[in-house]
Amino acid sequence: MAASFISLTSFSKPVQDDDSLQWFKKTTSVIAHQLNKAAATYTPGQNPRSVNPDGKVRFAAYKDWTTGFFPGALWYGYELTGDKKLAERAKSFTLALDSVRYLKNTHDLGFMLYCSYGNAYRITGDKAYLPALADGAQHLYARFSPKVGVIRSWDFGPWHYPVIIDNMMNLEYLYWAAKEFDKPAYIYAASTHANTTLKNHYRKDHSSYHVVDYDPATGKVLRKATHQGVTDESAWARGQAWGLYGYTMCYANTKNANFIAQAERIASFIMNHPRMPKDKIPVWDFDVHNALDVEERAPRDASAAAVIASALLELSTQVKDGRKYLSYAEEILKSLSSDAYLAKPDENSFFILKHSVGAFLYNSEIDTPLDYADYYYLEALKRYAAIKKTNLPKI
Ligand code: GLY
Repeated sequence: MAASFISLTSFSKPVQDDDSLQWFKKTTSVIAHQLNKAAATYTPGQNPRSVNPDGKVRFAAYKDWTTGFFPGALWYGYELTGDKKLAERAKSFTLALDSVRYLKNTHDLGFMLYCSYGNAYRITGDKAYLPALADGAQHLYARFSPKVGVIRSWDFGPWHYPVIIDNMMNLEYLYWAAKEFDKPAYIYAASTHANTTLKNHYRKDHSSYHVVDYDPATGKVLRKATHQGVTDESAWARGQAWGLYGYTMCYANTKNANFIAQAERIASFIMNHPRMPKDKIPVWDFDVHNALDVEERAPRDASAAAVIASALLELSTQVKDGRKYLSYAEEILKSLSSDAYLAKPDENSFFILKHSVGAFLYNSEIDTPLDYADYYYLEALKRYAAIKKTNLPKI
């Protein structure tokens, strides 16, 4: 979700009349069209997640980790286009997620609630959104073990106390909730989680393991492995993106120098990776060629690219000279906004972006639209507009 304190950095000049932003104008018209069509086609509670191989839309039930992204995309769509119909639909789709606040068996509450209710509250200031956000943060915090120093990710699988790199995405929610609900313990939990993850999830080359399994009694690391990457030792692309985004937001909320240093190291791993394609949209795992050696098994993952773009834009506002991050993010956004990735109006089952990968080795969501690719693309466009001082419609 967008930080509430996006700063307009000195290296950006107002460019709203610049022809070079034609791509931005074109994409906002596609966004308005696709989101309005999707919101009119589905009923609140029916959150489109991806498209099955048979062409049918897969929906996210309220317990699904992606359930907050469609409402969140509607909120960002409203901010980018000023279309009041999108705000009305965003409200209905958000409120349909009320039951999420009672979930205790998942760490994904940041994705589920902060992207939906969090954006709703940020944009409208309506305090009716706060109770769900308060409950969700409390349940997320309850999954923190001071002994292990991390928030537990999953309650399923053969693990003892699993933590996945994706969990870095929940910390922004806890930092926000600490301030909003006067819960300083949430800051301790979030920063401790980030420190423990920095120590145990990262390799010497600053790529990340996907899963670290801990002994819940002692905090000892039992195993470093993967769930969605091609091998335990590989760099799963979206995992690298989650880490980059997570440490950037940890720094934005704490100003802890270790966090910005880690964010810049991850950015460097991604941006200088020899297998990053020219258009800056990574394949679903940077090491897929080593492991599978088959080009067709390496579809691109637009969702990882969208998360990287959004994170780099935020990072560009947090460092002294963020130009290299801004220009890399701009290249990603231009690629995603090209015909290769951006849907044509009415196509792509009303999703905005094509060509993402959910979980390749499970044969799940390969080369499909994904709700979180759309969400982070819209967030990145909004961050880009703020940095470029582009005039967005008044809302
Ligand atoms: N958080 C699950 C994923 O990134 O696929």
